[in-house]
Amino acid sequence: MLTALVLVVSGLLLPVSAAPRANFTIRDPSSVYNNSIIKPLGGSASPPVAQVVHEWAALEYDWPCDWVRDYYAERGWFNASTNLLGGLDVYKNDLYVTVIRVSNTIPSGLNKVVQKNGRSVLQPYPSLRANEIGICASLQFPFATYTDPNTGWMYVIDVGRIGLIRNSPAPCPPKIVVLDLNRNGTVVRSHNFPESVVPRGTNILNDLVLDYVTKNASRVRYAYITDTGNAQIVVYDFQTNASWSFRHPSMETDEDKTVTINGVNYTMDVPVDGIAMDPDFEYVYYCPVGTKKLHQIPTFVLRNPAGNFSRYARFVGNKVSNADGMASGKRAIFYGAEALNALYRWDISKDLASQNVTEGNVTIATESLVAQDPEKFRWVDSMKVSADGYLCFTSNRVNEYVAGTMDFSGAKGTNFRINKVFVGDKPYLLKDGSDVGIVVG
Ligand SMILES: *[C@@H]1O[C@H](CO)[C@@H](O)[C@H](O)[C@H]1NC(C)=O
Ligand SMILES: *[C@@H]1O[C@H](CO)[C@@H](O)[C@H](O)[C@H]1NC(C)=O
Ligand SMILES: *[C@@H]1O[C@H](CO)[C@@H](O)[C@H](O)[C@H]1NC(C)=O
Ligand SMILES: *[C@@H]1O[C@H](CO)[C@@H](O)[C@H](O)[C@H]1NC(C)=O
Ligand SMILES: *[C@@H]1O[C@H](CO)[C@@H](O)[C@H](O)[C@H]1NC(C)=O
Ligand SMILES: *[C@@H]1O[C@H](CO)[C@@H](O)[C@H](O)[C@H]1NC(C)=O
Ligand SMILES: *[C@@H]1O[C@H](CO)[C@@H](O)[C@H](O)[C@H]1NC(C)=O
Ligand SMILES: *[C@@H]1O[C@H](CO)[C@@H](O)[C@H](O)[C@H]1NC(C)=O
Ligand SMILES: *[C@@H]1O[C@H](CO)[C@@H](O)[C@H](O)[C@H]1NC(C)=O
Ligand SMILES: *[C@@H]1O[C@H](CO)[C@@H](O)[C@H](O)[C@H]1NC(C)=O
Repeated sequence: MLTALVLVVSGLLLPVSAAPRANFTIRDPSSVYNNSIIKPLGGSASPPVAQVVHEWAALEYDWPCDWVRDYYAERGWFNASTNLLGGLDVYKNDLYVTVIRVSNTIPSGLNKVVQKNGRSVLQPYPSLRANEIGICASLQFPFATYTDPNTGWMYVIDVGRIGLIRNSPAPCPPKIVVLDLNRNGTVVRSHNFPESVVPRGTNILNDLVLDYVTKNASRVRYAYITDTGNAQIVVYDFQTNASWSFRHPSMETDEDKTVTINGVNYTMDVPVDGIAMDPDFEYVYYCPVGTKKLHQIPTFVLRNPAGNFSRYARFVGNKVSNADGMASGKRAIFYGAEALNALYRWDISKDLASQNVTEGNVTIATESLVAQDPEKFRWVDSMKVSADGYLCFTSNRVNEYVAGTMDFSGAKGTNFRINKVFVGDKPYLLKDGSDVGIVVG
C-alpha cells in the first residue's frame, strides 16, 4: 500500500507537468483485454464482473457507544478526514482492514469490517484497547496483515511509530505480531525487530508474504516483508527468532514513476511495496510503486542471511502499469494497474507452459484485465485471494489523498471501496492438494 509516504520520500507530491520520457505510453486497455484469454468461469457466459461489497466517502467505526466517539473526537483522537483505508485481509467470511496511522487522529489501526444498522463500519480488532497509541504491546501502526488460510493465524506487521515522517519520535519498536483469529485475536507471538535490521525512525513495514518452505510443513517458517521506508526486504525466521534484510537497486523507483490517472500526472517516488510468492515457495516477486518492473528472487537466497541477492535477483518483465499491492494465487499473480483504474492478472501458469521454461526463466507475456472502472477502481491498492475463489481488493484513491484533493464529504463521490471478483484461483498458501478450483485461462 502506498501512503502519504510519497510526501516524505519525494519531498512533496504535486500533480506534475513535466514531460515524461518520450516513449512513455499507456497501453490501450482494449488491446490487452482479450475475451479468449479471460475465459468464462463457472459456466457463465461472460467474464466475471467485480462487485463493490463495502464503500465509504469517509471511514466510520463501530464505537462501543456515542460518547466514546465524542470523547475521541473532542481530544483530537478521531478526525474522519484523515482516515485512509489501508491493507485488506480475508479469512472465512470476514474481511479485515488496516487504517493508515498517518497521525494520532486514527482511532484504530486494525479492524474487522462489520454491518451495523445497514452501514459498513470498522470494528477495532481485537479491540480498541489493543490498538491504543503509546502502549507498545498494542498495535501502533499495523500497515498490512496476512492471514494463513490453513490456521487462521493473522500475521501483522507494525511500523511502531505513528505517522510517516522520518525520524519523528518513535517510542515503540517495529514488530511482527501473530493473532489467532479463531481465538478472538489472542496474541500467539510477538517479535520486536532490532534497530540494526528495521530502524524505528525510518521504517515503513508495508506488506508481507509467508513461507512454509515445504508444503508438508505444519508451521510458517519465514515472513518476507517490504520496508518501503528503507527500500529493503526484511526476512524474519520464526524458528530461530532472527531477522535480516536485503537492499538492491531493483527495489528502487525508475523513470516510470510518474503515473497519469484520469488526466492528472502524479509522481510516485515510492520504492519496494508489493510482494507476492509462488505456491511452491521457490520464488518471491516484488515491485516498487514508482516503476512498471517486476522482479523475482529465489527463496533460497532470502532464507540465507548471507544470500547473494544481486546475483539472483531477476527482472521478469514490465507490468502494463504501475502497481501498489499484489496478491498470489496458485496460478497467477494479481496487481493493480494504476494508470488504467484497473486490476490485472499475470497468468504465470500459462506463460510457464507456453514458454516451456521453469519459473527461474519465465517472463511476463500474458497479462489479462480482471476489472476496470474509471470511477470505482481508482487506485487499486491491497488485495488477497480468498479460499472460495474470489479476489478481494480495495480501491482508495491514494493519489488524491496524498495530493490533498480527496473530498471526505462525499460531494466528489465515494473514496474507499472493498470489491470482489471471482477469479477461480486459491490463496497460494492454502493446503488443498492439487485442487486449485476452476481452471482459469
Ligand atoms: C502529463 O504527462 C503527459 C505526458 O506523459 C503530458 O502529455 C501531459 O501534458 C501531462 N499533463 C499535465 C496536466 O501536466
Ligand atoms: C524507451 O526508451 C529507453 C531509453 O530511454 C529505451 O532503452 C527503450 O528501448 C525504449 N523503449 C521503447 C519501447 O521504445
Ligand atoms: C486473443 O487471444 C487469442 C488466443 O490467445 C489470439 O488467438 C487472438 O489473436 C487474440 N486476439 C486479440 C484481439 O488480441
Ligand atoms: C481534520 O483533518 C482535516 C484534514 O487534515 C483538517 O482540515 C480539519 O481541520 C481537521 N478537523 C479538526 C476538527 O481538527
Ligand atoms: C470470543 O468472544 C466471544 C464474544 O465475546 C465469546 O462468546 C467467545 O466464547 C470467544 N471465543 C473464544 C474462543 O474465546
Ligand atoms: C516434506 O517434503 C519434503 C520435500 O518437499 C521432504 O524432503 C520431507 O522429507 C517431507 N517431510 C515429511 C515430514 O514428510
Ligand atoms: C528474539 O529476538 C529479539 C530481538 O533480537 C530479542 O529481543 C528476543 O529476546 C528474542 N526472543 C527469544 C525468545 O529469543
Ligand atoms: C555476488 O555475486 C556477484 C556476481 O553476480 C559477485 O560479483 C559478488 O562477488 C557476489 N558477492 C558475494 C558476497 O559473494
Ligand atoms: C520443453 O523443453 C524440454 C526441455 O527443456 C523439451 O524436452 C521439450 O520437448 C519441450 N517441449 C516443447 C513442447 O517444446
Ligand atoms: C534458465 O534456462 C537456462 C537455459 O535453458 C538454464 O541453464 C537455467 O538453469 C535456467 N535457470 C533457472 C533458474 O531455471
